[in-house]
Amino acid sequence: MSNFVRVAKTTEIADPGRLLLEVEERIVVLLRVGGEYFCLDDVCTHDGGPLSDGRLDDHALACPRHGAKFDIRTGKALTMPATVDTAAHEVKVEGDDILVRMCEPGELARRSAAPVAKTPAAIAPAVSVVEESQNPMPVQSPTMTAISGNQAGGVQSLSEDLVREELKKVIDPELFVNIVDLGLIYNVDLLPANEGKTNCKIDMTMTSPMCPAGPQMIANSKQVLGQLTGMGEVEVKIVLDPPWTPDKMTQEARDQLGIF
Ligand code: FES
Repeated sequence: MSNFVRVAKTTEIADPGRLLLEVEERIVVLLRVGGEYFCLDDVCTHDGGPLSDGRLDDHALACPRHGAKFDIRTGKALTMPATVDTAAHEVKVEGDDILVRMCEPGELARRSAAPVAKTPAAIAPAVSVVEESQNPMPVQSPTMTAISGNQAGGVQSLSEDLVREELKKVIDPELFVNIVDLGLIYNVDLLPANEGKTNCKIDMTMTSPMCPAGPQMIANSKQVLGQLTGMGEVEVKIVLDPPWTPDKMTQEARDQLGIF
């Protein structure tokens, strides 16, 4: 087990605030919130993105790249696309010194003891301050609508089941699981259209508001549905309310992602 090392002075970090530090050759982000201190590896386990500029909401720190959230108390991965915990480290305060003990991923969660320390007062620092940031990153709530036409003729009875089955051909490029089993399809409406065709309106959500794969999944959905005989216009609307949560996944998706 590693030992506590002094990483900063309490006067060097605002409340709320954060410091980016190098501790024992690892880059970590030290956070101060309401007089409490937390420390995490500055690494998102989804694709290695830095967490230090992420938005903090209560105890959930969101990765700026694709929006995965981590509990700053334990490092636990809270939301997709991250499925693996990041490392959270033990923090304590002695005098005006902040000390950190480096831990392995999951170690703090297993101990169930909160890795926090209340503010109080110096020791030689064994670390270097890389950068300071106090402003959480805002999260956008995108709304995207796309409509495509399909002039393919023919007579076919389109059903919601058929549409959902067809949408299983659309794969989330971040997770490599189809969008139906991920629980991203909230609603399917089929409406009579001209010339015996059927228009289709889809309400689709994202695993995170900042998911960059949205336009690609919309385009792919329109493409596969547009190939169905009798399909008219296909509209795909992105909805973020209610927000997607992992419990919307089917067991097949959970198996593919290794979530038990
Ligand atoms: S790198 Fe963090 S969510 Fe993708």
